[in-house]
Amino acid sequence: MSATGGAAEFDASPNNLEAFWMPFTANRQFKEKPRLLVGAEDMHYVAHDGRRILDGTAGLWCVNAGHGRKKIVEAVRAQVGKLDYAPAFQMGHPIAFQFASRLTQLLSPDFDHVFFTNSGSESVDTALKMALAYHRARGEGTRQRLIGRERGYHGVGFGGISVGGVVSNRKVFGSLLNGIDHIPHTHNLAKNAFSRGQPENGAELADELERIVTLHDASNIAAVIVEPVAGSTGVLVPPKGYLQRLRQICDKHGILLIFDEVITGFGRLGASFATEYFGVVPDIITTAKGITNGTIPMGAVFVRKGIYDAFMNAPDNTIELFHGYTYSGHPVACAAGLATLDVYKEEGLFERAAELAPYWEDAVHSLKGTRNVIDLRNLGIIAGIELEPIAGKPTKRAFDAFLQCYEKGLLIRTTGDIIALSPPLILGKSHIDEIFGTLSGVLRDLN
Ligand SMILES: Cc1ncc(COP(=O)(O)O)c(C=O)c1O
Repeated sequence: MSATGGAAEFDASPNNLEAFWMPFTANRQFKEKPRLLVGAEDMHYVAHDGRRILDGTAGLWCVNAGHGRKKIVEAVRAQVGKLDYAPAFQMGHPIAFQFASRLTQLLSPDFDHVFFTNSGSESVDTALKMALAYHRARGEGTRQRLIGRERGYHGVGFGGISVGGVVSNRKVFGSLLNGIDHIPHTHNLAKNAFSRGQPENGAELADELERIVTLHDASNIAAVIVEPVAGSTGVLVPPKGYLQRLRQICDKHGILLIFDEVITGFGRLGASFATEYFGVVPDIITTAKGITNGTIPMGAVFVRKGIYDAFMNAPDNTIELFHGYTYSGHPVACAAGLATLDVYKEEGLFERAAELAPYWEDAVHSLKGTRNVIDLRNLGIIAGIELEPIAGKPTKRAFDAFLQCYEKGLLIRTTGDIIALSPPLILGKSHIDEIFGTLSGVLRDLN
């Protein structure tokens, strides 16, 4: 491994860590005892003390092709030397068009246009704004309400936290957007615990959308946004038939269906996107993360045929959508993205994920009966391991597991008392064995 790192190379003394206000982190606790990553290659990180850490989370669900991939690194290096930046407002550069075309080839021909952003949060806000503007462009401007789902995570923009359903992400940020409703989440331990793949019970929860339509009237509702598999709030796999039912209700009432595929996109389920995996076609798809293998920040929003066209009736010289980012279609991000798509294709990583999924599933469910494990869930190369919370100390048990796994050379992620796993798709069976071997040891000994 080239990037060996080490304490001597990187001064990790807490005094130097003060200025960075870390995101989604217990800053004071972290800075007392930091965990710093200084290098990465393939399936591993290198910690600042020189230890190799097996990446059980693909960074933050993004490094699907593994770390330090030469093809991507080279593409970035070449592009930054050739065209470091060019504006995309009333100007263009070839690689953005090239990348958009390549991306649409990954999806069914239903999706014919791509809008570039820099993150999942921006993709979500873009999709919500597109939905509102689309209805208005078609003369249905009363359709202004947006519907999210409890336990949904759609990033941290005001749009995303408004339709999102994570209490701690919402409660201190004021009144958020107006005109939002939420359908219930689908997590049901009593009925579905230890399901392999999609649970049997809960398709009828989609009917809650009908209740909201009855309350507000369809003429006031623009869009529904859901994660096909909710990732960040603990790997909530949709019950069989649930997404199909949502689609039917949206069709019936002219409501746009948005799939937030920031996690499920780019092979995570063993198909290019969740829409393909489930055979349910939304109207808008939000993506980020795996689009560039996490190398350069980027996001993209895909729209279904007809949506772009609805904007194209304005007079020739008018801007059709007053929306965009300084870095929309950034040339270096596009180069990273093109090289990433090459790697996914050349190495057949989506197919590989599908092939490994049964082995992964067996490994996940081998933890059944382990102390404090109250549920195991899986789909594609994702797993959720739910632990019984310690009375009066929610989140502590899972966080202790996280700390101990890290000590033992495995990076996992926790949300509440749930452990979420999503390793790079280049993994092999030996990595799966290692992940679950380490984890079962840690859980066995955990208080
Ligand atoms: C489903 C989903 N949407 C949106 C986001 C936000 O993405 P970002 O952190 O890139 O803004 C995430 C991030 O985890 C996500 O999982």
